Amino acid sequence: MKLTKKDILGIKDLSVDEINLILDTAESFIEVSTREIKKVPTLRGKAVVNLFFEASTRTRTSFEIAGKRLSADTINISATTSSVVKGETLIDTARNLEAMNPDAIVIRHSAAGAPHMLARMVKQSIINAGDGAHEHPTQALLDMMTIREKKGKVSGLKVAIVGDIAHSRVARSNIYGLTKMGAHVIVAGPAMMIPRDVGRMGVTVHNSLEEAIKDVDIIMMLRIQLERQQQKIFPSLREYSNFFCLNRQNIKLAKEDVLVMHPGPINRGIEIAPDIADGPYSIILDQVTNGVAVRMALLYLLIGGQR
Ligand code: CP
Repeated sequence: MKLTKKDILGIKDLSVDEINLILDTAESFIEVSTREIKKVPTLRGKAVVNLFFEASTRTRTSFEIAGKRLSADTINISATTSSVVKGETLIDTARNLEAMNPDAIVIRHSAAGAPHMLARMVKQSIINAGDGAHEHPTQALLDMMTIREKKGKVSGLKVAIVGDIAHSRVARSNIYGLTKMGAHVIVAGPAMMIPRDVGRMGVTVHNSLEEAIKDVDIIMMLRIQLERQQQKIFPSLREYSNFFCLNRQNIKLAKEDVLVMHPGPINRGIEIAPDIADGPYSIILDQVTNGVAVRMALLYLLIGGQR
C-alpha cells in the first residue's frame, strides 16, 4: 500500500490502513538511527522547510534529524527570526517559500487550521507539527508506535489520557488515533478542562484521576496548557496537583504492568511526580526516540520514491 495523500494534516483524516502503513514504515527506519553512520540516501536532493511559529524542542529537532538522516536538506525557520516580525503574513511567507521550490513544509502554528490553509495554497507537501489546540498528528503517531512497540498491539488496550484535555492537540489526535486502532480511551481532568462534547469522540469521561486510571494499560499525562487558557480556570497549580498529579501511590490503581507516557515538556511535580517520570513505568524517552522514526517515515512516504 502507498500513502496517496499530499499532506499530513490530522489523524482524523487517516484510515487505519494508512496509520498502520506509517507505523510499519517508521519501525523499518528505527535501525538507521542505531548505525554508526546514521544516514541513508533516500531523500538526497529533496528539501524540507521546518516553519515554526511556536516554541518546540522535540518536534522541531526530530523533524530536522529525520530529514538529515534521510539525506534531505533541512531548513529551519522560526517566526522570531523571519520576516514575520516585520509584519509578513503567513500566506505571503508560504508563497515565498513555495517560490524556492522545497519538497515539504513542516509547520507549527498557534492558529488551528493554519497547516490546512497552507496545504490548499501551495503545491508542496504540508505536515502539521501542531496547530493551536486542534491536532498534533505526528505526536499521536509516535505515541501509537511506542504503545505498539511496548505492548505488541493497540487494539483492546485501556488508555487513560489525563489533564488539560480541552486545550490539548495531543489529546485530540490521540483520541482520533487510539479509538480508530481499537483502544478503549478514558479521559480525565477537572470539569473545566474537559470539552463538553468529548464523549461523542467515543471516549469514557471521568473527573477523577483515580477513577480514570483504574486497571488501565497506559496512562498518558498531559501538561497544563497555561498559554492557551483564556482565563484562570483553577485556583492554583498546587490544588491541581493535589487532585491530578500521577504519583507512586495512585499509580498502584492501574495494571501492574502499566506504562506511563507524556508528550513533553513536563511540569515536574504538577501533573507527574519526578520519580514516576524517571521511573520504571515511564516510556517518555522511548516516545522521543520513536519521534525521529515516525518523522522519517512521513517524509519518506510523502516525498520519497521507492526504497
Ligand atoms: N511533544 C511536543 O510537541 O514537544 P515540543 O513542543 O517540544 O515539540
